[in-house]
Amino acid sequence: MTPLAQTRPLLSPYPPSVLAASHEGFAEVLATLTEAVDAAGAARRPAGPIPAGAPADVLAAAAEALGPAELPAEGLGAKAALQLLATVLLEQGIDLSHPRAAAHLQAPSLSVAVAADALAAAGNASLDTYDSGPSGIAVERWLIGALIRLAGLGERADGVLTPGGSLSNLMGLLLARDAAALRRGVDARRHGVAALPGPVVFCSELAHFSTHRACAVLGLGEAAVHPVPVDERRRMRPEALAAALEALGPDRTPIAVVATAGTTDFGSIDPLPEIAEIASGHGMWMHVDAAYGFGALFSDRLAGRLAGLELADSVTLDLHKIGWQPAAASVLLVSDTTAFTSLDREVAYLNPADDSEAGFDGLLGRSLQTTRRPDAVKAAATLLTYGREGLGRMVDVCHDLARHAERRILTEPELELVAPAELTTVVFRYRGANPAAADALNGALRRRLLESGAALIGRTEAETAGPGSPKRVCLKFTLLNPTATTDDIDGLVDTVLDAGRTCERLIEEGAA
Ligand SMILES: Cc1ncc(COP(=O)(O)O)c(C=O)c1O
Repeated sequence: MTPLAQTRPLLSPYPPSVLAASHEGFAEVLATLTEAVDAAGAARRPAGPIPAGAPADVLAAAAEALGPAELPAEGLGAKAALQLLATVLLEQGIDLSHPRAAAHLQAPSLSVAVAADALAAAGNASLDTYDSGPSGIAVERWLIGALIRLAGLGERADGVLTPGGSLSNLMGLLLARDAAALRRGVDARRHGVAALPGPVVFCSELAHFSTHRACAVLGLGEAAVHPVPVDERRRMRPEALAAALEALGPDRTPIAVVATAGTTDFGSIDPLPEIAEIASGHGMWMHVDAAYGFGALFSDRLAGRLAGLELADSVTLDLHKIGWQPAAASVLLVSDTTAFTSLDREVAYLNPADDSEAGFDGLLGRSLQTTRRPDAVKAAATLLTYGREGLGRMVDVCHDLARHAERRILTEPELELVAPAELTTVVFRYRGANPAAADALNGALRRRLLESGAALIGRTEAETAGPGSPKRVCLKFTLLNPTATTDDIDGLVDTVLDAGRTCERLIEEGAA
């Protein structure tokens, strides 16, 4: 064996700056980003919020810029690699800060959140164990505490960040399922759902599809979902929920009711106090999907609409919707921290009991993930920067824009308002001369806007003539840009009208 003293020391060929967490590395991050931004200045950005062209052409242009899908034998270096990607992102990407970007619940990111996210990424802490980064744990606990207070949940409340509203809904229903099984003396985590015959999960007929998916994943089956009808304002009818519960046979097990605070298309908010009363009368879990609507709590004007949220057993909220965070920044809150018991797990290499007892513990037992990004950092930076009132003003601006869009649509004979602005969405349709062709016309109109790159607007289906009427293809503005103005909204409506007229003419001429 060679004596240790005779071995040559292994010297790293890399400078400290290749790793972002070092001081030199973060300076390198900033310098490289600055170069990429300069290069991006030369990019041929689309004139509108989305690149013009047929989808296949836009994707082909990006693929061509990226070159063959293979690893280069020799790397390009950070400068060239980032410049290439920055150019593709800008030339073939979407610009959510554009005033005519109004399609989805996909907010433009706040600059401070992106800066904080870069800091968090550089540190690369994980939330599962103490020794993966205590500061990340502290920041998440701070954020959860602040959100619990905003939601009005009590002293026993707790929460965790998740990678999206769909996952928060899944976790809420997981905890509901396990609580229902425990009431029957069964540990569902170990023994599955056999103890829960004929499971039923109630939600409004307008609930997000992630509720259905969650039921499938949790072994309850999508057939467990019992859709409850909505009223003319698209809110769950509590008397219909009560009747459905009463009608359940002894072979059925009510697991939870999912109330929606801010339906995806309409922003409608189910009557939370009434639903809470019915749920508690039946000893049933109430989960509130406030993925979209939670942000209304920032606004003095809108917060009252979420009254009753504090009665929930669990709440989903997405700060990447109203909250302007880069995705994802979703949170699941629970009214009682003991609900997380069903996620508890002791793992030899992560959180052995003696370490945990000595305080070396992380947040593994609150999440379905193991390694978990410190997404709380960007959200905490945002709440600290703007405070409740600063965020509330942004919410109010977006709500005002939606109300302006609603008023403008009402003045246009070629447009029909389908649903007014509850939060920041407005649903409407282009009437067209031939009502029988209106669905196809609205679909074509939106595709035309996308293909011309002129505007990014949403599409959905809605019962346009009241509850129970046939569903028709509609258009939707989702207004989440607090820097947009009422003139921008007028421009957006004008663009829709132009596209509608053009499509109608093309359809008449048989050219579309
Ligand atoms: C009401 C509601 N719940 C859940 C979700 C799912 O959120 P995510 O896209 O973050 O998974 C959405 C998405 O739009 C939503 O509108």
